[in-house]
Amino acid sequence: MPTRYAHIIGWGMSVPQQILTNEDLSRMVDTSDEWIQSMTGIRERHIVGPRESTATLAVEAGVQALITAGVPARKLDLIIVATSLPEFLMPSTACLVQDQIGASNAAAFDLLAACSGFPYALSVASQMIASGAYSNALVIGSETMSRLIDWSDRSTCVLFGDGAGAVVLQANEKPGGLLSFALHADGSGGDLLMIPAGGSRMPASLETIEDNKHAIVMNGRGVYRFATRVIVAGIREVLEKAGLALNDIRLIVPHQANRRIIESAAKDLELPMDRFVVNIDRYGNTSTASIPIALCEALSEGRILPGDNIVLVAFGAGLTWAASVIKWVSPAPKKRRQIPLTDRIFTRARSYARRTRRNIEGIIWGKNE
Ligand code: ACO
Repeated sequence: MPTRYAHIIGWGMSVPQQILTNEDLSRMVDTSDEWIQSMTGIRERHIVGPRESTATLAVEAGVQALITAGVPARKLDLIIVATSLPEFLMPSTACLVQDQIGASNAAAFDLLAACSGFPYALSVASQMIASGAYSNALVIGSETMSRLIDWSDRSTCVLFGDGAGAVVLQANEKPGGLLSFALHADGSGGDLLMIPAGGSRMPASLETIEDNKHAIVMNGRGVYRFATRVIVAGIREVLEKAGLALNDIRLIVPHQANRRIIESAAKDLELPMDRFVVNIDRYGNTSTASIPIALCEALSEGRILPGDNIVLVAFGAGLTWAASVIKWVSPAPKKRRQIPLTDRIFTRARSYARRTRRNIEGIIWGKNE
């Protein structure tokens, strides 16, 4: 079998309409716009409404990615949803997406690597494509972090936001796509960032709710120290694996957890900040969705062109960290939109995207209520 590469040929994102600003937060807890902006770089974040969820955002982002790719849903072999808060403990969010978009031939599963989930999932899907097992995969990062937050805890509630991003990967014999990856974990640091209750150790009970054990608990300083170390190590590792130097990289798309973490990486790597995609000011930390959302925005701003090498890098609870080098091969979005879209199931997917957000919510919630 000839060598196969996993090219990214489609991308999409979805964020809730509702925006929560730092000013809004300063009326909820003892904080200020000045503290949040200077300590994190965040100005505002998008927050789901009552009829939105991890699955509704995932479907929207996934459908947009299919449209950009010009790939009908029935041609998908695999759907991976990376998420920190799935729709249900079971079934997986990926199965809900598979059903909603009509991807009747796709295997589907969720992947939990917290904020490192997107590059983790991308690597898994790429390897399945490179091995010859699959040809078309949809990888989604989708989060409703606002539902994991203790809204009275000022040390965490100012940091997170909701959203989803997705890419379509396709097998191709032309060199490109995912050139290298690094996946890492250090479970000894698991207590730095966790949600204590709701799992097997501490199932939901009246007591866990009264004790507020279902929200994120974080040692911010510990995570900060870990993040600034692994983000640089991860970038260096994947560059070495790909046989590339920093100068060969057009853009770095880092997980958006704190602007200061990205600035620290830029300083250590002696790179100007314009070599990094930074949009944390408008979205906060959207966990697994932050990298694909940043990727979509960089593409729409023309910051990534065919032939460019880019690096994705993330860190998160687990502890986990992950990075990958991607050689961009897809033409600019405008050219892609000219592809004739005739397939029946693809038309169904396109009609999902045309419908209002409310209808998409209706599709998901209506089935599961
Ligand atoms: N508003 C005002 N003051 C605040 C706030 C707030 N929202 N939050 C904390 N403070 C106060 C603290 O009470 C403390 O006050 P004190 O000095 O009187 O005790 C002071 O600010 C400093 O607090 P620290 O927590 O020590 O501040 P730090 O410099 O560590 O910055 C921050 C906090 C921004 C959270 C930082 O630690 C950080 O970004 N860490 C990384 C977090 C992260 O990336 N998490 C996501 C990982 S990805 C995932 O898997 C989800």
